[in-house]
This record gives sequence, structure tokens and C-alpha cells, in this order.
Amino acid sequence: MKHLVSIADLTRSDAISILDTAAQLDQVTEQGAKKLPTLRGRTVVNLFYEDSTRTRLSFELAAKRLSADVITFSAKGSSVSKGESLKDTALTLQSMGADAVVIRHPASGAAHQMAHTGWISAHIINAGDGTHEHPTQALLDAYTIRRHLAPEGQDFEGLTIGIVGDVLHSRVARSNIALLSSLGAKVIVVGPPTLMPVGIEEWPCEIRYQLDDSLAELDAIMMLRVQQERMSGSFFPSSEEYSREYGLNRSRAARLPEGAIVLHPGPMNRGVEISAEVADSHRSVITEQVANGVKVRMAVLYILIGGDTHG
Ligand code: CP
Repeated sequence: MKHLVSIADLTRSDAISILDTAAQLDQVTEQGAKKLPTLRGRTVVNLFYEDSTRTRLSFELAAKRLSADVITFSAKGSSVSKGESLKDTALTLQSMGADAVVIRHPASGAAHQMAHTGWISAHIINAGDGTHEHPTQALLDAYTIRRHLAPEGQDFEGLTIGIVGDVLHSRVARSNIALLSSLGAKVIVVGPPTLMPVGIEEWPCEIRYQLDDSLAELDAIMMLRVQQERMSGSFFPSSEEYSREYGLNRSRAARLPEGAIVLHPGPMNRGVEISAEVADSHRSVITEQVANGVKVRMAVLYILIGGDTHG
């Protein structure tokens, strides 16, 4: 595997290998090794054309924990604001000897373009491109689900996972549906018809429009952020109405099976897709998702770059 642009770049066994490697790295860190020498002498560039807290910080921490040199590039404050193209930015990073580029971009397809045009020879990792994919988010979500619901490393057969809300604008949902179904889980997608993408019937998931009917079946429920910033029109009458129909509140959470977990990729709209009470409840694994993001991104960097012969 040279790049990680989409979940389709991974076979099922590649995905399992990333989850297993993350677990091993977790063990090594728990035993006190805060920093590993694996990527010493390599350069990882974080190229962020869109805002991020979790993804940018966790890639930076993951690369530093593997002893790589890390450069974080934010489009704001760079020559992108003077009109520099993605191609010229890629050529600049190539000249500087980047070994890996972690890219977040508002345009779907930007990571694919960086990986497959020949502008740059570095490994390309998609940190979220438009409404297309966010593969490392899906991997960290799968890692979190596995730790809670399949702790012996068994596969996801027999697990039912709900993904709820603004599927239309969600790269997290696309990557998760592809990954979780390939690992053997049954995926149920729930949301208003206006927030379902065209062609979703062809995706490996079941589609429902009522949340209340599905709660009792779910081993894990992933609430999606309502992405107002990507909405050009009105997709539902009001936040209050959305929350009434699709928000995860205390009474809905109480109808989940015992042991069911609640996920959210962040950032959350507390009081819209999830109540503050549920976000902070014993079922919530949202802060664990953030911690697991570092281990999973370490595993991705280790597998992609660690195997290169270099220097
Ligand atoms: N989940 C996620 O991608 O969060 P950030 O936008 O903060 O990186």
C-alpha cells in the first residue's frame, strides 16, 4: 500500500493489520515507551486547507511519537492565499523531500489528485476531502468499537452499528460504511430523506428514516455532526425539529441495549445531534476515539512509511 486515500485502498486484511498494529503500539506506549525511533530521518507534512482540531493534532503527535520531523502547513497564512495551486504546492513539498503528506482539503478528490498525478513521490494520506472520505477516522472508529465489542480481536460479524444524521455531507459516514461492512458488521444508516445521498441504496448498508425504531438493535451508535457549513439550502425545518426526530437524548440512549456504546467523530453540536448529557455519559466513548486516533495514525504512518528503504 503506497497511499491511503480511500477505504477502497485497503483490503480487509490491510485494515485488520492497521488495527492490530495500533493495538501493539498502544501496548508499547503503555509499557512506558513514549517515543519510538521508527521514522527518524523521515519528514511528514501536514497540509491542511480546511480547519481541524483532532485530525491535525493527532497526526502531528503520531508522527512525533515515531520520531519523524513534522511540518504543519495551514493554507491560511501560506502562499495558497496568493493563489498558489495544489500542483505547485505539491512540487514545493517534493523539492523539500517530504516522505509523507497528510492532506485535508474542502474539495472531494484533492487527496486522489495528489496521490495519482505524479506531482510528488511521497505517500499521501487523506485526512478528509470534501464530502468524499476520511479513512483514518473510520479506522479509529473501528479500533474503538473493536476494543469495546470485539476485544479478543474477533471480527465484527454479529455486530449492528447505526450511523445517524447528516449522511449527505459526511465523509466520515462514507468511510465508516465501507470499512465496518467489510469487517463484517451490519450497518444501519438512519436520517432524514433530505440528508441521504443519491445512490445510497447501492452502498453496503440498510437505510432507515426513523431513529426510534432502530435503537434496540444497535451495539454501537455513531452520531454525525450536522454540517451547516456545507449546506447551501434548507435540509430540515429547524435545529429543534431535527433534534426531536434524530437527536440522541437521554430517553433514546436508555433504549439502547445494555453495553451499547455511543460514538461521535467531533466536533459535536451539543443539543442538536447529541445532548450534552449523552455525550458525557458512561456509554460515550467520544474522548476514547480521540485518544485512539493517535495510535491508529501512528500505525498508518508506520505501515506506509516505515517499510520504505530510505537514505
Ligand atoms: N473528526 C474530525 O475530523 O475532527 P477535526 O475536524 O477536528 O479534525
